[in-house]
Amino acid sequence: MPATGRLPSTNLPDTHGEYVLNSQQTPSSITELPQTSVPPNDQPEPAQWWREAVIYQIYPRSFADGNGDGIGDLPGITARLDHLVELGADAIWLSPFYPSPQADAGYDVADYRGVDPLFGQLADADALIGAAHTRGLRVIVDLVPNHTSAAHPWFGAALAAAPGSAERQRYIFRDGRGTTGEEPPNDWQSVFGGPAWTRVTTPDGQPGQWYLHLFDPGQPDLNWDRPEVRAEFLDILRFWLDRGVDGFRVDVAHGLIKQADLADWSYPQEPLSGEGTDRPRPPMWDQDGVHDIYRDWREVLDSYPGERILVAEAWVQPAERLAAYVRPDEMHQAFNFEYLEAAWTAPAQYAVITRSLEATSAVDAPTTWVLSNHDVIRHASRLGLPVGQTRPNGIGADDPQPDGTLGLRRARAASLLMLALPGSAYLYQGEELGLPEHTTMPDEARQDPTWERSGHTRRGRDGCRVPIPWESNAPSYGFGPADRSWLPQPAVYAEYALDLQRGVAGSTYELYRTALRLRREHGLGRGSVYWLTSQDDVITFRNGELTVLTNFGPEAVSLPAGVTILVSSAPLDPEDHVPTDVTVWYHA
Ligand code: NOJ
Repeated sequence: MPATGRLPSTNLPDTHGEYVLNSQQTPSSITELPQTSVPPNDQPEPAQWWREAVIYQIYPRSFADGNGDGIGDLPGITARLDHLVELGADAIWLSPFYPSPQADAGYDVADYRGVDPLFGQLADADALIGAAHTRGLRVIVDLVPNHTSAAHPWFGAALAAAPGSAERQRYIFRDGRGTTGEEPPNDWQSVFGGPAWTRVTTPDGQPGQWYLHLFDPGQPDLNWDRPEVRAEFLDILRFWLDRGVDGFRVDVAHGLIKQADLADWSYPQEPLSGEGTDRPRPPMWDQDGVHDIYRDWREVLDSYPGERILVAEAWVQPAERLAAYVRPDEMHQAFNFEYLEAAWTAPAQYAVITRSLEATSAVDAPTTWVLSNHDVIRHASRLGLPVGQTRPNGIGADDPQPDGTLGLRRARAASLLMLALPGSAYLYQGEELGLPEHTTMPDEARQDPTWERSGHTRRGRDGCRVPIPWESNAPSYGFGPADRSWLPQPAVYAEYALDLQRGVAGSTYELYRTALRLRREHGLGRGSVYWLTSQDDVITFRNGELTVLTNFGPEAVSLPAGVTILVSSAPLDPEDHVPTDVTVWYHA
């Protein structure tokens, strides 16, 4: 057993081992315990399922293609739901499937109450929700309120109407700067690159006003000061709640309200990233006014039976600002991107886990954990990059390549660590297979607007969005009946296919299944973190009766005699030695 050492600096006293952090406590109830006392996780399963749920993200384009057109669809998902039951997920979150020109893979919504023909029809959504519920899986859908598609009827009406009209005021139109209005109204940059403003042409062919789009020009930002915008989204919530959904993942939840003066912002505006805490708050993100919107939404959700939830996608720092989104009368959860971004070192992981638990405990919300999604490099590849390197926005064939073997080893250790933590965990489709990023995709195949908008300086997110492999020897690796996929699948995906991993001891898929089963059996999601050790190279904590150890260092660490190993992310050799980049769960 590694020696107990001082904790890295946090706002906890350094008498470590004496504090329990629970995802559902307020700081005043963080209990001081004798060194040997560990509370069992004997609380009954909470009525609030979301406090400990494992939620599996489905990216509909790339999960399963039912009709063979090379694009995943809703019937394809329905046909594969048993996979998620077997895996042990509690809920699914579906990225957008609404009618859309697909300027940003569906995050540009033209009709919030329909299904794009690419993915099926409304009846397919109903069938999917019903089939999931029959299997005990809850369903969360994506809601995109910061912007519509430029093809939304409201935007068409805004273009046809005069400056200052009610139609224009649903969006953020301004006159340009300069003598003839030839310059954008301010210096804001689009997250995808280039100016965040596009100038429109008036019906008589003259250059007109500019409209704001924090993302693609095909995604004009809505003006949330307008009551009709607010009313419309309350109605959209009800539309999907009436169809039985269990919640909404709220896209760009930190962006809806802009600082009223639209002041210039001279700092770099990093793509899909939290702004540094050493800068003033940017005028386009995390304005206090967003919270009123979510209070109104919460009232709507609470008026429905069952526990329906709101999940914030908010790239906000520090953790206390993020926690404001999950105060008791606002959202239920917020993605913990600080955790996703944390370096693979013991001090960094200890610090982020501690900080995350403290911040959400202060508002009585569950902490969430996430390592991958459709916007970031898959963690099986990301963790194969040099430790401490800033996460790149996409990787191409001529970029330095991640170490795949190391990345997978660390990814398995990271996932096993994550799944031992109290709160709610998010999985991204394919991570249960250990799937790497496609890091050598030909540039001409790329579809993410980031690649073009950044002037070919940032590859963007296609590499994590490639259709996933189900069968190693089938066309499109079993993604669909045809040998077609909207993004090219790398040949190496054959080796990760589900059929090669199901029932195979030691496979990443069976590791996830085991972890999810043990997590449920031991009530880890509603447990506590009781730190035993945090040193330069090792962290160890208890959650209930289970002890979790991750070794980040170069040397193997030995376990105390007589422990019972429940699961480890890689073989131990000998049995009481935990090698580098391995997580182990054991009973002392
Ligand atoms: C966040 C989504 O996850 C991302 O995929 C999208 O491009 C932006 N929001 C804009 O909607």
